[in-house]
Amino acid sequence: MAVIADRCPQIDVTVVDLNEERISAWNSDDLKQLPVYEPGLDQVINRTRGRNLYFSTSIETSIKSADMVFISVNTPTKLKGLGAGQASDLKWVEACARQVANYASGHTIVVEKSTLPVRTAVAIKTILSARSTQPDPLNANEDYPTFSVLSNPEFLAEGTAIKDLEEPDRVLIGGEDPLAVEALALIYENWVPSEIILRTNLWSSELSKLTANAFLAQRISSINSVSALCEATGADIAEVSLAIGTDSRIGTKFLNAGPGFGGSCFKKDILNLVYLSNYFGLPEVGYYWQQVVTLNDWQQKRIAQLVVKKLFGTVSGKKLAILGFAFKANTNDTREAPAISIALELIEEGAFITIHDPKVESSQVANALGCEPTFNNKISISEGEWLMVSSVEEAVTGADAVLILTEWDEYKKLNWANLSRNMRTPSWVFDTRGIVDITQVKSAGLNFWRVGQGED
Ligand code: UGA
Repeated sequence: MAVIADRCPQIDVTVVDLNEERISAWNSDDLKQLPVYEPGLDQVINRTRGRNLYFSTSIETSIKSADMVFISVNTPTKLKGLGAGQASDLKWVEACARQVANYASGHTIVVEKSTLPVRTAVAIKTILSARSTQPDPLNANEDYPTFSVLSNPEFLAEGTAIKDLEEPDRVLIGGEDPLAVEALALIYENWVPSEIILRTNLWSSELSKLTANAFLAQRISSINSVSALCEATGADIAEVSLAIGTDSRIGTKFLNAGPGFGGSCFKKDILNLVYLSNYFGLPEVGYYWQQVVTLNDWQQKRIAQLVVKKLFGTVSGKKLAILGFAFKANTNDTREAPAISIALELIEEGAFITIHDPKVESSQVANALGCEPTFNNKISISEGEWLMVSSVEEAVTGADAVLILTEWDEYKKLNWANLSRNMRTPSWVFDTRGIVDITQVKSAGLNFWRVGQGED
């Protein structure tokens, strides 16, 4: 919404939320305190806030005056009930649709921006049309509102959100009402070339979003499965992915082996696709996509177990340093981060884990791991505990192993000669992102393991 406001100064954009604290954080003078860390976002907010971008909790009046409403709420995986563990929980989407139905006036275009299961628009339309046929009880003279529903899924990735929005590969608009489709296309045409604005039917648009993520995640599971084969055979994943990726039909992007994909989208969306496939009586299709998630879980477990194996089969009472807790670089998001399951597995084995991340807070880690940090003397070793530290030096001091789990730039340039002086001997560096300079690590006398290459 901030980028739309930035690129379309003639349009007023109001972001509304029930959560007052969150809205006041978005309105904060201190741009470092914005609720989301995203490179470049603070400048966009700085340019637009108060000009034509507003953050507010006045939901009713904002909906009433809006020509277009973007539903952009979260759709987490259901934890209980029908479809638990797979289906998306649409309660927030439904709540939004009800509010729009209640407060809208005149003709309102309702845009699905959240990632939704295919055919969600039916539910939204049904909720909206119930209101279109009921007069406003408080205002008998008012005309019934009318609605058009569009699907306009978001393809941005965290960490590169602003660039992805400013220079998208494509914009997708699904809808049945040509006037509504063109009204939304006109907004994007302020900065997006018209030939990359794709118009489809509603269901294609909804399904394309889910399957685009599934295809991306599938590439990661595919390359991670090959990483294990490389380690077993002496092939080198960097060479193999280059050799595969230079086939223009395959392409070089999204072929980095790693600790498995994380983030709020891939796992949730694939599980939802599995659920939908089964729901529509296509269990083979569901099973096919389930394997992408299964392999991802396996990759994380495999790495944790490998660390234990290399450390003489036990990490109990040993200090292990985890560098990087976010699910990828340039974000403070830890949702579904591979670091969570890897850390939990090692804590379970009795290790004392020190965690460093340039952007993640200790409270987020506590939340993600479901247990509080230890407040003991930081250097003394306690079994099965963890502590967040503010420097890499502190994290690795006294450690038996360092695990690099996020590809932050600062981890690419570490001075291993200095760091190794304070580590135990023998000690290990496990590079799950393939970013560390091997020669430096080796000349510092450390053992080295890299995903898709194995032990060096
Ligand atoms: C993903 C998609 O890339 C976006 O197109 C989509 O809009 C978004 O989900 C969404 O549905 O909202 P995001 O989850 O922010 O974006 O992050 P990605 O850059 O896709 O990374 C996902 C995970 O895959 C990360 O853990 C990353 O480290 C991992 N990854 C990515 C690899 O392990 N190897 C790669 O080559 C690429």
